[in-house]
Amino acid sequence: MQDTNNINWGIIGLGNIAHQFCRDLLLVDDAVIYAVASRSQEKANTFGEQYGVTNCYDSYDAILKDDHVDIIYIATPHNSHAELSVKAMTHGKHVLCEKPIALNKAEANMMIETSKETGQFFMEAFWTRFNPSVVEALLKIKNGDLGAIKYINADFAFYVDIPEGSRMTKTELGGGSLLDMGVYPLFLAYVVLGMPEKIMAAANFFESGADQQTSMILHYKGAQAVLHSSFMSPSNMVATISGTEGRINLHSVWHETQGYSMIRNNHKVDYHLPTKGKGFTYEIEACHKCIRNNQIESDVWSHQDSLNLMSITDAVRKETGLKFPQENKIK
Ligand SMILES: NC(=O)c1ccc[n+]([C@@H]2O[C@H](COP(=O)([O-])OP(=O)(O)OC[C@H]3O[C@@H](n4cnc5c(N)ncnc54)[C@H](OP(=O)(O)O)[C@@H]3O)[C@@H](O)[C@H]2O)c1
Repeated sequence: MQDTNNINWGIIGLGNIAHQFCRDLLLVDDAVIYAVASRSQEKANTFGEQYGVTNCYDSYDAILKDDHVDIIYIATPHNSHAELSVKAMTHGKHVLCEKPIALNKAEANMMIETSKETGQFFMEAFWTRFNPSVVEALLKIKNGDLGAIKYINADFAFYVDIPEGSRMTKTELGGGSLLDMGVYPLFLAYVVLGMPEKIMAAANFFESGADQQTSMILHYKGAQAVLHSSFMSPSNMVATISGTEGRINLHSVWHETQGYSMIRNNHKVDYHLPTKGKGFTYEIEACHKCIRNNQIESDVWSHQDSLNLMSITDAVRKETGLKFPQENKIK
C-alpha cells in the first residue's frame, strides 16, 4: 500500500461493469481510481477522462507494472478471470475479480492457491453478499425468524437483444445465461442452504452452444431451491426464501435490492435499505478492510464460498451439457 491512507485501484477491461463500478468507487472516501487499462489506448484515455484518471494504459500487462496500484479490479469476460487474477497477484497486486470467479472449479482453485502463495488479497466480486438488505435478511434467517427453511425461489431473467459478436453468446468467453446471471440464484440457495445433495438442470441453447436459459432444482435434505436464468424473457426478479414460520421476499431487482418484506402470521413488514450508489460500495469497503487487516480473503465471501459456488455451477453444466471449448472435460 502507498504511504497515504488511500487505496489505489487499477481497473482492467473498460466495458459496461467497469463504468458502473467506477461510479461507485468515487463514492468511497479512501478509494482512488489510480489507473485504468484497456486493449486500446484511445479507449483507456476516454475512460480515464471520464473519471479523472491520468494513468491510462494500452495493455493489461502495463498496469500490473505500475507500483502505485494496490488492487486490481478485473472486469473482463469470464474466460480471462483466472489468467489475469494470477498474473496480477504474482505482480504483487491484490485482486477483486468479477463474477463468475472463473470458468470452472479447477481455475478457481489455481487462483486461490496463487493468493495463498503470494499473500495477496483475492476476492470474487460477489457484491450481492454485501448488499445491506441481503445481509439483514440472512441474519434474520440465521436467527430462525422464518423457522426451518424449506423452499427458495429465485431467478435472474430478462430479454436481451444480444448484439452481434457479444461475449454473451461466445462459449470461448464463457458466454451463456448460467455464468452471467444464473450464478446469482445459485448464490442465494448456497448462502441460505449450503451445498445441495442433488442438482437437476436443463437448458435451451443458442447455435453457438451457449445457454439461452437454464432451469435448476437444488435438492437438500428437507429443502429445495427452484432457480432459473435467462436472456430470453423477463421475470419479476423477486426472490423468495420460505420457511415453516414465514417468508422473506427480496424486492425486485433482488440481486441489487433496495429492500425486502418479511411475512409471518399473515402480517407483512417492509424494510427499506437504500444502497450507497449502485451497491458496489460495500464490496469495495470490504476489500479495504481486508487489505488493511492483512487478510488474503474475506470472511463474508471467502475463497471456499467461491469454490463451492463454482462447483455447484460445474455440476449444473454437467447436467445441461454446457461446455466451453478450452475445457477438455468438465471436472
Ligand atoms: N457484478 C455485476 O453486477 C456484473 C454485471 C455485469 C457484468 N459482470 C461481469 O463483469 C465481466 C465483464 O462484463 P461486462 O458486462 O462489463 O462486459 P463488456 O461490457 O463486454 O466489457 C468487458 C471488457 O473486457 C475487455 N475484454 C477483454 N477481452 C475481451 C474479449 N475477448 N471480448 C470482449 N471484451 C474483452 C474489454 O475491455 P477493453 O476493450 O477495455 O480491453 C471489454 O470492454 C463479466 O465477467 C461479467 O460476468 C458483473
